[in-house]
Amino acid sequence: MKFQQAKWDEALLFERSRAGAIGYSFPAVSKAVQQALPKPTSTLPKDLRRSTPPSLPELSEPEVMQHFVRLSQMNYCVDLGLYPLGSCTMKFNPPMNEEVIKNPQFSLLHPHQDCSTLQGILQIFYELQQWLSEITGMDDFSLQPAAGAQGELAGVLIIRAYHADHGNLESRREIIIPDSAHGTNPASAAMAGFDVVVVPSNEQGQVDLKALESAVSEKTAGLMLTNPNTLGLFEQKIEKIAEIVHKAGGLLYYDGANLNANLGRVRPGDMGFDIIHTNLHKTFATPHGGGGPGAGPVGVKASLAPYLPIPVIVFDGENYSLDIERPKSIGRTHGFLGNAAVLLKAYAYIMRMGWQGLHAVSDHAVLNANYIMKKIQGFKGFSVPYASGVWRKHEVVFSAKQLEQDTGVNARDVAKALLDRGLHAPTFYFPSIVEEALMIEPTETFGKAELDRFIDAFREIAEQAYTNVDIVCKTPQNTAIDRLDEVKAAHPRTMALTWRMFQQSQK
Ligand SMILES: Cc1ncc(COP(=O)(O)O)c(C=O)c1O
Repeated sequence: MKFQQAKWDEALLFERSRAGAIGYSFPAVSKAVQQALPKPTSTLPKDLRRSTPPSLPELSEPEVMQHFVRLSQMNYCVDLGLYPLGSCTMKFNPPMNEEVIKNPQFSLLHPHQDCSTLQGILQIFYELQQWLSEITGMDDFSLQPAAGAQGELAGVLIIRAYHADHGNLESRREIIIPDSAHGTNPASAAMAGFDVVVVPSNEQGQVDLKALESAVSEKTAGLMLTNPNTLGLFEQKIEKIAEIVHKAGGLLYYDGANLNANLGRVRPGDMGFDIIHTNLHKTFATPHGGGGPGAGPVGVKASLAPYLPIPVIVFDGENYSLDIERPKSIGRTHGFLGNAAVLLKAYAYIMRMGWQGLHAVSDHAVLNANYIMKKIQGFKGFSVPYASGVWRKHEVVFSAKQLEQDTGVNARDVAKALLDRGLHAPTFYFPSIVEEALMIEPTETFGKAELDRFIDAFREIAEQAYTNVDIVCKTPQNTAIDRLDEVKAAHPRTMALTWRMFQQSQK
């Protein structure tokens, strides 16, 4: 398929601004009504008020619309095709979910309303707490955290609160994390004030039990793990791992980012985990990352329920209300009830899927990942490190090390070359235990034809690397913007990210 992305020479809204252009119209108000209206007053302290009006672009409504449509045409989205960003579970998002949240019975609610007038949405969120508990094997949930990483932080703060409550926080300073973990895991542990102890993976890509046994001690506060791990491999010895950590007095935290692989089949709570966060914006639809806000509800076993972030929604058999009387709670992690729109979308998604539907999600997600593994692992230059030959769960990590050695084309080049073929790149250089890593997660929502399009593109790039390195290394050429300076992008201080910064940079 020939791919050419739109390339608009699109100016900023500020640059297109024309003095006096308006994008709104209010109905005319008669003089009599104007006089009858109270004079506008402000309770804002004087020193916080602007002396001059804000400098905003002035444009008509169609001009603004054209601008954003053009920008969208220079972008890629999950509605266009495969978005195989490993560990991100970029699945198709049913438009029906958007319809649900647009319903005025939800969208016109105000979080300051009295609970007696919010019974409907409280019932929905209460049921969502119950369903998440059932799906993950936990006893109680708080819907507060706004992302996976925030759910992790909440979870680690629960570990902290638990040990503090038992008088052990002074001694239990360490959180154990496998070397395959997502970067947010050690970051969350460190933010909660813990020292991070890294345990290596063995040749099968599993937690090395001997290393774990020597890492645990009376200093262990807990272990953070995702299962299947970031190599897409199920930790076979998870019950033994749980036993080792529990015996040492630590708690087990489950990073729910990879829950898509387990839905309806196996539950973290049954594996021995005490705490979990779920990424509703991955597993239960809603685009992830730049595509939209998230929700990372945190769930626990009953003994840890007192530490959950408040409010937790409770039901006394007649009324739904907000439980804020949890003196041992780690507190709030979000305003009001959490990220309500994302919670609603997850509810709508789970309700439509039902238990059998969720079961089918993991079936197809795993099938798709293994289809891709089987096809691509035969391509020259690519290998599947760790336990090759073993079926993966929902994602597969390839190494392009051989390709790099043979041709100079590295994992980044392969990812960029995919963009030129109208596909999104996989995650690359993660997990860090795989050299020249390309991490592919197709999810369940793409069919064989789309997977084959991806595999064909991959094959073409692999062949081109051995015949015409220059072409591959100069990609992308067919996208709106060619190869970005990633070093510069990682140091945003050198860039003008706002109009004001841009104007200052021109002085
Ligand atoms: C394994 C894993 N853990 C945690 C996270 C963090 O989730 P979030 O991006 O919602 O903060 C991610 C994100 O991709 C992930 O892949």
